[in-house]
Amino acid sequence: MNASRKFPQSRLRRTRFTASIRNLIAENDLTVNDLIQPIFVKEGLDGFEAINSLPGINRYGLNALDLEIEKIQNNKINAVAIFPVIDPNKKDEQGTESLNEDNLVCEAIKQIKKNSDLAVIADVALDPYTSHGHDGLLDESGYVDNDRSLATLTDQAMTLAKAGADMVAPSDMMDGRIASIRDSLENNGFVNTIILSYAAKYSSKFYGPFRDAVGSSSNLGVGSKDTYQMSVANIDEALHEVRMDLEEGADIVMVKPGMPYLDVIKSVKETFKVPTFAYQVSGEYAMLKAAIQNEWLVEDVLIESLLSFKRAGADCVLTYAANEVAVKLNQ
Ligand code: PBG
Repeated sequence: MNASRKFPQSRLRRTRFTASIRNLIAENDLTVNDLIQPIFVKEGLDGFEAINSLPGINRYGLNALDLEIEKIQNNKINAVAIFPVIDPNKKDEQGTESLNEDNLVCEAIKQIKKNSDLAVIADVALDPYTSHGHDGLLDESGYVDNDRSLATLTDQAMTLAKAGADMVAPSDMMDGRIASIRDSLENNGFVNTIILSYAAKYSSKFYGPFRDAVGSSSNLGVGSKDTYQMSVANIDEALHEVRMDLEEGADIVMVKPGMPYLDVIKSVKETFKVPTFAYQVSGEYAMLKAAIQNEWLVEDVLIESLLSFKRAGADCVLTYAANEVAVKLNQ
């Protein structure tokens, strides 16, 4: 093997000499097929509004959503992940509004499916809808009750599938939700609805800007999601979560957050060899954009950060930078 050859027989700089050669030896590549754009839609909003902690990202009213969709299609991105910002008056303990077949997210899904070829991913979790900001239902002591939450989450997933979502993406981390949702989809004839499981989802502080964006942080207050999202210290447990979700019927698994968890992405991909997505979450994007805005970093760090996901083995990345990066990649 060449590796045993020593300098000067071996000069690794030979294959770095010109851009053409560097391109030829590139082991990984980032294309628009690797990107998914998350979108926030807001109830009752006329037009769009900026999100302070996510520079360049807006909340869209349904009447402005088509503009964003057109941009995403023009950038040749294949899919969007849609997140609703619900009217605070519609939030309750049970997250009832999540089951309304004409709710904001269902209307957005129908609109996107009608006006584009984009694949639509819809989150399954109650946090945008609950007055307490948790992803499931609480018992009398304030603990998130796994088994009672399953029924509502399964109904929510069905509501999203009926509205036309191509993928339902449980991000709630209740045990058993994949099996429950898969059974319900099969029993109701939704045999091709994909379950994209947020299988290895950590209880992370990197979700801060997202919780501001959907308005759930004030509901959650000082509460944490530590009793259902994973400990940031663990990786064996992530593989256990992924194995269970695959056995229960997940088609694609996700690791979240992304860049601080590249080791997890690599282990998941190497262990299971199934479609593996990663989520470059709001806090990761906010950090990079803040540094770029301050001119402490240049914009190309976005592409570098996304290539790290490809090296780790991710098939695809949900990133707020999708549009911006796609413009560069299409040049
Ligand atoms: C909802 C959900 C969250 C994110 C995606 N779906 C927040 C959370 O779990 O509190 C975070 C995404 C991001 O930070 O970009 N369960």
